[in-house]
Amino acid sequence: MIQFDYRNSDVSVVGQEHGLNIAQEFEQYKDRIASIIGDLNKRKDKPEQWLQWMNLGYNEETVWYVKEYASLVRGRFDNILVLGIGGSALGGIAVTEALLKPYWNLLTPEQRNNYPRIFFLDNIDPDTMSALLDILDLKRTLVNVITKSGSTAETMSQFMIVKDRLEKELGEDEYRKNVVATTDRQTGVLRQIAEQEGYKTFVVPDDVGGRFSVFSAVGLLPIALVGLDIDEIMNGIKDMDLALKNTDINENIAAQGALIQYLMDVKKGKDLSVMMPYSSRLKYVSDWYVQLWAESLGKDTDKDGNHIHVGPTPIKALGATDQHSQIQLYNEGPNNKIITFIRVGEFDTVLEIPRIFEYTGIGYLGGKSINDLINAEADSTRVSLSDYARPTVTITMPKVDGYNVAQLLYMLEVQTAIAGELYNIDTFSQPGVEQAKNYTYALMGRAGYEDSARVLQTKIASH
Ligand code: PA5
Repeated sequence: MIQFDYRNSDVSVVGQEHGLNIAQEFEQYKDRIASIIGDLNKRKDKPEQWLQWMNLGYNEETVWYVKEYASLVRGRFDNILVLGIGGSALGGIAVTEALLKPYWNLLTPEQRNNYPRIFFLDNIDPDTMSALLDILDLKRTLVNVITKSGSTAETMSQFMIVKDRLEKELGEDEYRKNVVATTDRQTGVLRQIAEQEGYKTFVVPDDVGGRFSVFSAVGLLPIALVGLDIDEIMNGIKDMDLALKNTDINENIAAQGALIQYLMDVKKGKDLSVMMPYSSRLKYVSDWYVQLWAESLGKDTDKDGNHIHVGPTPIKALGATDQHSQIQLYNEGPNNKIITFIRVGEFDTVLEIPRIFEYTGIGYLGGKSINDLINAEADSTRVSLSDYARPTVTITMPKVDGYNVAQLLYMLEVQTAIAGELYNIDTFSQPGVEQAKNYTYALMGRAGYEDSARVLQTKIASH
């Protein structure tokens, strides 16, 4: 199991002004936390609670269909091209980057065990998009278009471009075999198109928001298509889910993380939450976390209708790289952050540093390993932050594998849900995102948005 260590956020380490008396806080909040956990687990099976993500670890049916489709198309494609944005892309990116062999797309087919390369197009930069489409042999590319709403402008405009090219290359019948759509069961334009065109489809389940959808077909399909073991992932979620059902805060790491992050914000003014894994393979876990934390907790009103404008700002960092970029600020700048380190116990590879130079400045490195170095840097940065009275918490993963990555992501999802309850907000809505989406529709001339378009044109001209 992954471990969570909060000692460096305690007053005993970072002092009274910046630290929390954690044992005391746990005692004070134990009933509230127990009731939040109990309540989340009670509500998770009810409709319109947006808590169905808590059941995804047990969704054997989806796993079966995903595996069956992945084995059906095995060997037919050299590339998987995922079209999606936000919650429809970030989970898949985080998990494939963490679990595939590094530089997967540069490996030979044999080195990839004949599984395809994978590309996520999660932006609409015309240069990068057309460059990628020029590189890919579309005949040998399976396009997985993912959008829960079925109408997100970025994803659907990408899809229109790709569909047009596929059809021209493969013909109006054949091209359909190169498309698989993941979308809402019933509603949305993509669902209509898929039915009309006869695409293979997978469902974004009801009551699962984009940023909580990584363990639905949204994430599992791309993961399975490149040959990753989704059973291992499901086992990780289930074991973590079991552990997180414990209503005792002293035993529940997601509750501990949520309460510490919340109190650091509201009591200690630390409204920036940095995620800093010491593993390049986990770099995109930070991107995923940033979206999860930002969209879930950044809210205007609380559940009682009060305007509260809450939400800690998440920041992504990477160890050891960002020691040479951000740590100066974190040590000496404003003491307004809580930093979460992710530390990997055992890497897949041990990389020895040869004893080839005896210079005093670098000779000590010879005979050690890069593994020793990265973990020494994680420890030394954590300690130096404590010296400056900067609070940190550390998540330790035994290794970067499907079981542990699933545990990590699921733990962070539950941490977010508990934090949302502590802030007394609706964790699962995103009115601020919808607003910008609607403005885009208006500007691009979607029917029904004419009035907004006129107002917007005036605002754009005058701002
Ligand atoms: O988490 C969310 O709900 C958002 O980030 C969505 O995933 C994102 O806006 C994409 O939406 P859709 O899947 O409807 O295309």
